[in-house]
Amino acid sequence: MTQASPTQRSHSAFWMPFTHNRHFRSEPRILASALGMHYKTESGREILDGTAGLWCVNAGHGRHEIVNAIQRQAAILGFGPTFQLGHPLAFAFADRLVEMMPTGLDRIFFTNSGSEAVDSALKIALAYQRAIGQGTRTRLIGRERGYHGTGFGGLSVGGIATVRRDFSPHIPGTDHLRHTLAGEPLFAVGQPADGAELADDLERLVALHGAETIAAVIVEPVAGSTGVIVPPVGYLERLREIATRHGILLIFDEVITAFGRLGAATAAHHFGVTPDLITMAKGLTNAAVPMGAVAVRTDIQEAILNAAGFGIELHHGYTYSGHPLAAAAGLATLDVYQKDGLFERAAGISPYFSAKVHSLRGARHVRDIRNLGLVAGIELDPREGEPARRALEIFHRCFDSGLLIRVTGDIIALSPPLIAEEGHINAMIDTIRAALEAVD
Ligand SMILES: Cc1ncc(COP(=O)(O)O)c(C=O)c1O
Repeated sequence: MTQASPTQRSHSAFWMPFTHNRHFRSEPRILASALGMHYKTESGREILDGTAGLWCVNAGHGRHEIVNAIQRQAAILGFGPTFQLGHPLAFAFADRLVEMMPTGLDRIFFTNSGSEAVDSALKIALAYQRAIGQGTRTRLIGRERGYHGTGFGGLSVGGIATVRRDFSPHIPGTDHLRHTLAGEPLFAVGQPADGAELADDLERLVALHGAETIAAVIVEPVAGSTGVIVPPVGYLERLREIATRHGILLIFDEVITAFGRLGAATAAHHFGVTPDLITMAKGLTNAAVPMGAVAVRTDIQEAILNAAGFGIELHHGYTYSGHPLAAAAGLATLDVYQKDGLFERAAGISPYFSAKVHSLRGARHVRDIRNLGLVAGIELDPREGEPARRALEIFHRCFDSGLLIRVTGDIIALSPPLIAEEGHINAMIDTIRAALEAVD
């Protein structure tokens, strides 16, 4: 295999996603390998991973059990179609996933990404309402500041202005709940005490549009990409109750929160609130092979199957749904989570993580801090007239000091792999503190 040397590569043919491409070309930062808690650059510099890649490498990098499973499966069956056929691992993986999902969500639809999982869940919700004779329910409700990927479905229910605004029109008739972030910085440790009544926005939208027009409401239990918004105590419970009362399906987008991020298999387990559908991706395969999935309540699938005549019941799917390499990676990943007790481990170290993150209160530029489980958002005061600039400079400075963080707008997001130890967390906070001091 030929590999272009850093000087031979153009760094311009690859149009990079969610990237300031012009800047990157002038200052490329390239990750060449990874093991455990660290990436390594091409020059051999170690970078501590404060973000589990992109909220996804929950078990840490280079897990040999997962590598071996992928290698083995590549030699046995690299691809097998799942349209009107099947292969063993897709079924085995679905069975294992069901064991990990909340009771009653025991049908799994496989996709290749979080965006596709969201679009699939929205389509399943529409198909279900039609199947039970509620075909007027075509409206989908999201939430302001929500992120549900970049497909047109996810964009329609998403609520981050920069992500949405260039791509109209969206699915007609979508609407949004307000987000739950308080106007004033709260420096809340874990869930904010106040704000459950914001769930009543769903009642307001029912009054406005009529319940008979609404198919589903989708929320991230903890909003991640928009800068970590933790639900107020009682909010998700209230949303569940209102949705049930009006025959509206509740979808939890758990692309970030599933697989231990909050110290449990899913956010649904953590909060004790069971939605009707759960979307997931990222930690599903420890990001070793792209894969997403939707867990669906049994009777939702049964209704769709039973309403159809002879033939395909749901005209939806992807060439790579249940791909053998992804299924192999996923099975090995679930084994690692269980064998190493990683969800419990995350729960155990979360209080330490919380205390360290909140020790940044009072540091230069810090406006608010929010956290739950192994997720934290550190919101900065924006630089006058240059929104997001300060955070990007801190991102670069941290990287150059050996730490990978994520920034979104003027918010730093941390989501370390679940194998993080206290020393790693200390190093993350020290590096961020120094960067905050150094950047104007
Ligand atoms: C909550 C949520 N949903 C959907 C997505 C989209 O996932 P993907 O980038 O795999 O399409 C993301 C990605 O960060 C996410 O955080």
